[in-house]
Amino acid sequence: MRFVSEPKLFILDAEDSSYVVGINELNHLQHVHWGGRLLRTQDLQPARASTAFAFETRESLTPEEYPGWGGMRFAEPCLKVTFDDGVRDLVLRYDSHQILGDTLMVRLRDLSYELFVDVVYTIYPRYGILARHAVIQNRTSRPVTLESAQSAAWHLPAAPSYRLSHLAGRWGGETRLERELLGPGKKVIESRRGNTSHQANPWFAIDDGAAGEEQGRVWFGALAWSGNWRMAFERLPDTRLRIVGGFNDFDFGYRLAPGETLSTPVFYSGFTSRGFGDASRRFHQFQLREIFPSRSASRPRPVLYNSWEATQFDVNEENQKRLATQAARLGVELFVMDDGWFGRRDNNRDGLGDWFVNPTKFPNGLNPLIEHVRKLGMGFGLWVEPEMVNPPSDLYRDNPDWVVHFPGRPRSEGRRQLILNMARADVREHIFGVLDKLLGSHDFDFIKWDMNRHFSEPGWPQLPAAEQKKIWVEYVHNVYQVIDRLRAKYPKVDIEACSGGGGRLDLGILSRVEQVWTSDNTEAFDRLSIQEGFSFAYAPKAMVNWVTDVPNLNNRSTSLTYRFLVAMTGSLGIGNDLNRWSEEDFKLATRMVTLYKRIRPTVQHGLLYRLASPREGELTAIQYVSEDGRQVALFVFRRSQQFQLELPAVRLRGLDPKAIYRLDPLDGKTIDNQRELSGSYLEQRGLHFRLTGDFDATLVILDRVS
Ligand code: DGJ
Repeated sequence: MRFVSEPKLFILDAEDSSYVVGINELNHLQHVHWGGRLLRTQDLQPARASTAFAFETRESLTPEEYPGWGGMRFAEPCLKVTFDDGVRDLVLRYDSHQILGDTLMVRLRDLSYELFVDVVYTIYPRYGILARHAVIQNRTSRPVTLESAQSAAWHLPAAPSYRLSHLAGRWGGETRLERELLGPGKKVIESRRGNTSHQANPWFAIDDGAAGEEQGRVWFGALAWSGNWRMAFERLPDTRLRIVGGFNDFDFGYRLAPGETLSTPVFYSGFTSRGFGDASRRFHQFQLREIFPSRSASRPRPVLYNSWEATQFDVNEENQKRLATQAARLGVELFVMDDGWFGRRDNNRDGLGDWFVNPTKFPNGLNPLIEHVRKLGMGFGLWVEPEMVNPPSDLYRDNPDWVVHFPGRPRSEGRRQLILNMARADVREHIFGVLDKLLGSHDFDFIKWDMNRHFSEPGWPQLPAAEQKKIWVEYVHNVYQVIDRLRAKYPKVDIEACSGGGGRLDLGILSRVEQVWTSDNTEAFDRLSIQEGFSFAYAPKAMVNWVTDVPNLNNRSTSLTYRFLVAMTGSLGIGNDLNRWSEEDFKLATRMVTLYKRIRPTVQHGLLYRLASPREGELTAIQYVSEDGRQVALFVFRRSQQFQLELPAVRLRGLDPKAIYRLDPLDGKTIDNQRELSGSYLEQRGLHFRLTGDFDATLVILDRVS
C-alpha cells in the first residue's frame, strides 16, 4: 500500500494483482487500474478525467471510485441524498487521506455541504482480495436523507465483451450458476425481500466471455450483507463496465441526523488471471482465514444428524433418543433436534414466539435428551426461529404491535407467520432475552437459526414516517448484534444460519456463524448443481449437506452411496429416518462416515477443483487437495449411461507432476489398475471410471507417497 504524492496515486498491491486509484485534476477520486500486478511506479500516469463528447460529460464518463449523484453525472451513483433544504445535488471531492497498515481511508466531501464520505479500502495481499466500504457522515446542522448508499463502484476498461457469472434460483434450487453477456444498459441482481434471498445471491464474477476454470482473467466480488442488497452492472456508452453494489436503493431512505454516520456493508473483490477455479480457491482460503469466526477456524465441522426430515414437527423425548442412539452408531458427532420442540408447535400454524419447552413432548424438559445425547458421545444442537411469530401465539396476543406492519393494512402471512420487528430495540432485547435464557439453562453446543419468510408491508409505525425506511438496515444490524452477543456470552455454541435452506447465505452472516444450511432440496442429483454454484462463491466448509431418504423431492431415487458422496463434498450431515434403515444401510453409512472423517480436513480446508460440471455433461467431478498437498480426494458422479458411450477420462489438477500418489479407490469403479501413479500421469492422462446405469458415483483418495 503506497501513496505516491506526484502524481497523486494510491497503489494497493497484492502478491499478483494491483489496484490503483488517483486524485485527478478535478480533485475527484478516480479509478486507474484493477488487474494484474504492476511492478514499476514510474510507468503509471496520473489520473485524468475522461474527455467529454456530445451528450456525454466528463463527470459521467470518468470512472470515479465513489460518485455522488450530482453535476452532469448520468451513470449509476454510489450516493444519492436529499438535503433538508431540498437540494438533491452531491459532488464529492477529495478532502484528505490516511494509511494505516493495509488500510487506506480517503475522505471525500461535498463541494459546499459538510457531508463527508470515508471511502475505506483494506487489501489482503496474500489472497489478492480487496475489501471496500464507505462511512457517510452528516456534519451539517440539519438532517440529510440518503436515498442510495452503495459500498463501492468497481470499473473495468472499455472492451468488446464482458460476461457476468452469478448465482440465481429459488427455494429448493438456490445458488445455481448463471452466465450471460452484458449488453448496453444495466443488469441488476438484487434482493428486496429483507434477507439475502434464495432467488439471487450477492456474488459476481466477470470475464471477457472466454475464461475457463483454469485460465483467463476473472474479476469477482461479494457483498457482506444479509438484508436488501443490489448489484448493478452497467455497460457505459464507451463500453466500459461499472459495477456498483451495496444497500438496495429500492424503498431506501436513511435519515442521518446531524452528527450521525452510516456505514455501508463491506464489498469484497478480487482478481485473477488463472480462471474461475483460482478465483474461488483464493476466495475460499480468504474466507477460511479472514471471514469465518476465528474461534472455529482450525476446527473441522462435526458430522451432524438433523431430525427434520425424519420426524418433522412430531418430535418427543422418546423418538429423539431413539434417533440419537442410532446416529451415534454411525459415528455422528453432533445431534440436532429441529423444529417442533416448543410452544404449541404441532404444525407450522402455532408456536413461534412461545419459546417454552413443550410439556407434552418433553415432560421433563430437554435435559434428559441432552444427557442421553452426551452419554452417546455426541454434542447437542437445537433449532430456533427467533425472528418470527405465529398469530395464535401468546407472544402475538400480548404484543400485536411488535410485528413489522402498517396500521390498518393487511398483515400478510408467509408460512403462517409474521416478522417481529427486530429493528426495534425493545423487540431485539426480548429476542436476546429468550435466547439467553434458553442457552443459559441448557448445555448446548449448537443452534440452527432459521428464518422462514420474506418481508411484506415493511412498516415501523412507532417511528415518524420519514424515519421508517430505516427498518431495512436496522433489522439486519440487530440480527447481527444479537448473534454477536450470544456468541460472546456462549463461546462454546456454534451456529448454523438457515432461511428455508440457503436464503441467508452471504459474507455478512458467514462472518458470525460456522455454517449455512445450503438448501431444503436434499435430492442428491439436484444438489450437485446447487452445491456447484455455492462453491463458486463460498468455501465448502460452510456448506452443510444432508444424506436423506429416497424417493426425494423429484420422486427420484439414488443409491445410498451416491447420496453420501454428494453430501461428502461439503460439511457432512445425515437426515434419514434411521429407524427405517436395514443393517446393510448402517454398515454402508458407517463406512462412508469413516471415509469422510479421513478426508474431512482436505474437503473442508483444502483447495477445490471443479473438473467437470453438472451443467455441461453426464459427468461431474470435484477434486480437493489438502493444504499440504499430501492428500487428494476425487469425487466422480455419472448422470446416466448411453450404450457404448465411454466416459471421458478425468484429468486431475493441482498436483506435483513429479510426485507419486497411491490410489485408494472406494470400490471397483476405477478402470486403471496401477495403484501408484505420478502427478504428471494423473494430470495428463487422467483416470478412467466404470460408472454404469443412472446416478452412479465413486470416490478415489490419493495419498502422496514421494
Ligand atoms: C426450514 C429449514 O430449511 C428446514 O431445514 C427445517 O429446519 C424447517 N425450516 C423447520 O421448520
